[in-house]
Amino acid sequence: MTTGSLRRVGILTGGGDCPGLNAVIRAVAKSLMVKKHISVIGIEDGFQGLIENRMRELKWGDVSGILQSGGTILGTSNKANPFGNPVMQDGKIVIVDLSEQTLKHIEKWQLDAIVCIGGDGTMTISRKLMEHGVPVVGVPKTIDNDLYGTDVTFGYDTAVSIGAEAIDRIHTTAQSHHRVMLVEIMGRYAGWLTLGAGIAGGADVILIPELEYDLDIICEKVEERSRIGRRFSIIAVSEGAKPKGGELVVSRIVKDSVEAVRLGGISLKLGNEIEDRTGLETRATVLGHLQRGGSPTAYDRILATRFGVGAADLLVQGRLNQMVALRGDQIVAVPLQEVGGRTRKVPLDSPMLDVAEAVGTCLGVTR
Ligand code: F6P
Repeated sequence: MTTGSLRRVGILTGGGDCPGLNAVIRAVAKSLMVKKHISVIGIEDGFQGLIENRMRELKWGDVSGILQSGGTILGTSNKANPFGNPVMQDGKIVIVDLSEQTLKHIEKWQLDAIVCIGGDGTMTISRKLMEHGVPVVGVPKTIDNDLYGTDVTFGYDTAVSIGAEAIDRIHTTAQSHHRVMLVEIMGRYAGWLTLGAGIAGGADVILIPELEYDLDIICEKVEERSRIGRRFSIIAVSEGAKPKGGELVVSRIVKDSVEAVRLGGISLKLGNEIEDRTGLETRATVLGHLQRGGSPTAYDRILATRFGVGAADLLVQGRLNQMVALRGDQIVAVPLQEVGGRTRKVPLDSPMLDVAEAVGTCLGVTR
C-alpha cells in the first residue's frame, strides 16, 4: 500500500483493559482525522468485533473528552481469536478457525490497515493477521509492563501508582495494629508492577516471580523488625510469586480464554505460613482489578498520546506491520514479528532490585 492510498483505518483494543486505552484511541483518531482526513472505524470488543462484523465509524465527537477516562470506549475481549476462537458446542469448548469470515469483514469495511492496541496475546494475533495480508500497526498496552520490544507499556505507571497508594494506606493500619500486612499485586509472571509499587510504597519485603522466595528469609526479616521495635511489616507480593521449588497459586481457570490460568491467593497462603512460623498476626489484601480501573496518570496520558500519534505517523508513512515502542525517550517502530509470544521479565541484574536492597528491602532471597 502506498501512503496516498490509505483511506480507512480500523482500530481495536484487545486483552485486559488498562488505563490509557481511550487516550490512545483519541490520539490515533484525531491525528488521522485532522492531518490526513482518513476515516477511522472502531471495532467493538477487540477481535470479537472483527469476527462478528461489529464496527462503527468514529466521529470527532466520539473521541473527544475521553483522554482522562479509564477502560475503553470500544470494549475489549481477552478470549476472541480469529485463528482459534473458543466456542461452546454441546456443553464443551471447541476451538474453531474463523479467519475466513474475519477477513471478509475486513474487506467489507474496506479497512486498509488496523491499529491493534494490546499486550502479548493481541500482538501475536496481529502478527497472524499481518501474515494473512492485513496491514497492522500495534500499540503496546498492559499494566504488567511485560511486553517485549518496549521499555514501558502505557497503563503501568497508573497501576504502580495505585499499588503504591494501597501500600501507603495499609502502612497506617499495619502500624496501628502491629501486624504483618501482605499486599498482593497483579502482573502475572513478571514482577515489574510489584517491584515498582513496593519501592514507591516503601515495602519491607518485595516478592516477585523472577526470584523464588525462601520463607526463612522472610520470617527472619519480619522478626528482626519486631526485635528492633518496628512492630509491623509490609510485604508487597506478586500474584505470580512462589517459594523455591514450589507452586504458583491459581485462583481460577478460564477455559475459553487464550491464556486460561488466572493467578491469585498467594498473599493469604503466605500470610498464614508467616503467622504460623513467627506468631506475628498477619492480614492479606488482594488489590485485583482495582489496579486496572480509573483514570490514567499524567505520565500514562502522555505516553498513550505519543504512542497513538506515533501509530498514526507509521500509517501515513506506509510503515506497516510494526509496533510503536518507547526506547529511552524516543518513540520507535519495532517489527511485529519480533514482538508476540515473548515475555519481558525483570532481569536478575536489574538496577531496580539493587535499589530496593540498598534501602534495606528484603527480596526473599540471598542475592
Ligand atoms: O495482564 C493484565 C492482568 O491484569 C494481569 O496482571 C492479571 O493476572 C490478569 O490480567 C487478570 O485477568 P482477568 O481480567 O481476566 O481476571
